[in-house]
Amino acid sequence: MAQHTFRTLGEFIIEKQEDFRYSTGELSRLLSAIKLAAKVVNSEVNKAGIADITGQAGNTNIQGEEQQKLDVLANDLFIKALSQREVVCGIASEENDNFIEIEAGDNVHLSKYVVLIDPLDGSSNIDVNVSVGTIFSIYRRVTQPGTPVELKDFLQKGSQQVAAGYIIYGSSTMLVYTTGNGVNGFTLDPTLGTFYLSHPDMKTPTQGKIYSINEGYYFKFPQGVKNYIKHCQEEKDDRPYTSRYIGSLAADFHRNLLKGGIYIYPTTSQSPNGKLRLLYECNPMAFLIEQAGGKASDGFKRILDITPTELHQRVAFFCGSAAMVTKAEEFMSEAVH
Ligand code: AHG
Ligand code: MN
Ligand code: MN
Repeated sequence: MAQHTFRTLGEFIIEKQEDFRYSTGELSRLLSAIKLAAKVVNSEVNKAGIADITGQAGNTNIQGEEQQKLDVLANDLFIKALSQREVVCGIASEENDNFIEIEAGDNVHLSKYVVLIDPLDGSSNIDVNVSVGTIFSIYRRVTQPGTPVELKDFLQKGSQQVAAGYIIYGSSTMLVYTTGNGVNGFTLDPTLGTFYLSHPDMKTPTQGKIYSINEGYYFKFPQGVKNYIKHCQEEKDDRPYTSRYIGSLAADFHRNLLKGGIYIYPTTSQSPNGKLRLLYECNPMAFLIEQAGGKASDGFKRILDITPTELHQRVAFFCGSAAMVTKAEEFMSEAVH
């Protein structure tokens, strides 16, 4: 059984502040705002069945996807927590058409950070009591503090991320994050409302035994992915691998991070750029998996090296145990050549 460490997320954030030279505490305040919003969203998610927050909100987001009530609620809660505490100068969300500029009283735009967020990941699972999540990504703005934020502050390569993480509202609620010095996981003690360090310095196995992909779309997949799936199913050496797919990236990612495995959302004939969003989903997960010793790719190249051209850009995503992602990439390039 995991031991209660009595090390809280709040204390950890402050301790880790010293990793950054010249730190002003601004990033710590930002992470604390995320921690608070996570607790509020958690309490809403937990009441989902009785609080009239399941079901569709009746509108679609910019990507043409049905918004669930909880998508809208989580989005509002995170935006409020981040904007009212004046810890960021801009927020981009999967649920909003454009980025939001935050003005902080008389000190307009003085914060140096922007946040990109998928406030509720795995929305199709809300109504059926299956794990959902929140994914966030933090960058230092590239434009001058004191001026309004611009699109280019958000369109940075994933390798420029200052911090990234996710919250998983699962059988227990966890917050997992990195600031580029490894990955640490915290579990919420719901009776105390406090996150405790439960998974220090998380590392993912180099080779796992799980593959996670929506195989219902098999016939729409590129040949390289089809061949890789058959490789996973072949009876040879340590195979066949087992298949696990929840349909909430945060939850699929979390399981594979702990156990070792590969998550794939490839391009399909229907979604030629893939489904997952580079800025809100793939970049933060890619940063985390690399920090945990794993690998993230679009099938051919490193996710974190992609220069984004638009906020809601989609990309194919291969993420997980390093040896498995490398193997999948081999199948991808073999099928092309
Ligand atoms: P979101 O709920 O934020 O729109 O994300 C859903 C994403 C991701 O979490 C999940 O892995 C994937 O969509 C599932 O897609 P399929 O239903 O096409 O497999
Ligand atoms: Mn999502
Ligand atoms: Mn979402």
